[in-house]
Amino acid sequence: MKPFLRPTWAEISLPALRANLERLRSRLASRTKLMFVVKGDAYGHGALACSRLAQKSGAADWLGVSSVEEGSLLRDNGIRLPILVLGSLYPFESFRAAAFYNLVPTVASLESARRLAGMMRRMGRRISCHLKVETGMGRIGMSPGAALGALEFLSSRPEVSVGGIYTHFSCAETNRQFTLLQLDRFKAVLAAAAARGWKTGLRHAANSAAALGHPSTRLDMVRPGLAAYGLMDGFQPVLTLKTKIVFIKTVKPGTPIGYGAAYRARRRTRVATVPIGYADGFSRGLSNKGEALVAGTRCPVAGVVSMDMTMLDVTRARGCRVGDEVVLIGRSGAEEISARDVARKLGAIPYEVACGISARVPRTALS
Ligand SMILES: Cc1ncc(COP(=O)(O)O)c(C=O)c1O
Repeated sequence: MKPFLRPTWAEISLPALRANLERLRSRLASRTKLMFVVKGDAYGHGALACSRLAQKSGAADWLGVSSVEEGSLLRDNGIRLPILVLGSLYPFESFRAAAFYNLVPTVASLESARRLAGMMRRMGRRISCHLKVETGMGRIGMSPGAALGALEFLSSRPEVSVGGIYTHFSCAETNRQFTLLQLDRFKAVLAAAAARGWKTGLRHAANSAAALGHPSTRLDMVRPGLAAYGLMDGFQPVLTLKTKIVFIKTVKPGTPIGYGAAYRARRRTRVATVPIGYADGFSRGLSNKGEALVAGTRCPVAGVVSMDMTMLDVTRARGCRVGDEVVLIGRSGAEEISARDVARKLGAIPYEVACGISARVPRTALS
């Protein structure tokens, strides 16, 4: 972690992350494995620190990333846990890098099964892959028929072993019936494969909502992200977004604040400027709408969020001064602003809010 001067940062609580992973684990049968999904730089929490915690504590058995680039970064930094690349690899040439970095690729089409086997034969290597079955998500994956075709093909190719097979739910949080229909479709593929004697390895399907809400989806492994980061009820938030007041003034009624003069003080108002803006992932959608906590007091955003700075009406936070800490996501005193609260204001989802915190914001891991 490089030292930083601009006082805008995200604190990542590793104890909270560990507690969430352990809480998830405590819900599972002892034979069920846990893949901690760390794609998207661990949903904006910092994939390296989060993966290191998972590896050191034994809180996860696997990691899930979206690309070879995300996986190779972890490998280059000492992460030895098995890593599944959840995305569909293309160009097919990237199978070479997956093998080099000891990553487990997803095979989401018959063509990619053929390309993978051909490349491994030419390289004189063996690789383990997981097959992706499309059951209702409509994103990537093979139809049940194509998945069986890929299993048959790979059963005769010694250079590629099927270490797992999986699907993904589209509505685990909202639609039980459809989730269980997807599960049935997936199980039908597993049954057909078993009847033909084809090995499918680890069977997995459940994201956080499915793993918690629909126990029958847990199978051999679950793949939580959201719950691990405490972005769901019942889990501890892991990320706190903070900044500090860098400028403060008192203005007369009618004074315009910020671009477009979109805010005018209605009374004598203390206005603080904080060095965070939409280039940090503090969305412009929070203009005249968002809030921040100053010493446990809710302070509204005053005017339009600009690229690097935001103004707050801190009149109620009596006595606050330049240098005082401001919480944009997290707890201060008895008050809390969660990523979900921010998402609600923006008509977004908590995943977007956390992933949206830009690389410019240093993450500091608290242990
Ligand atoms: C294939 C796959 N599995 C698991 C997850 C984790 O989902 P969640 O964060 O809802 O637990 C994701 C996230 O989008 C995913 O794409």
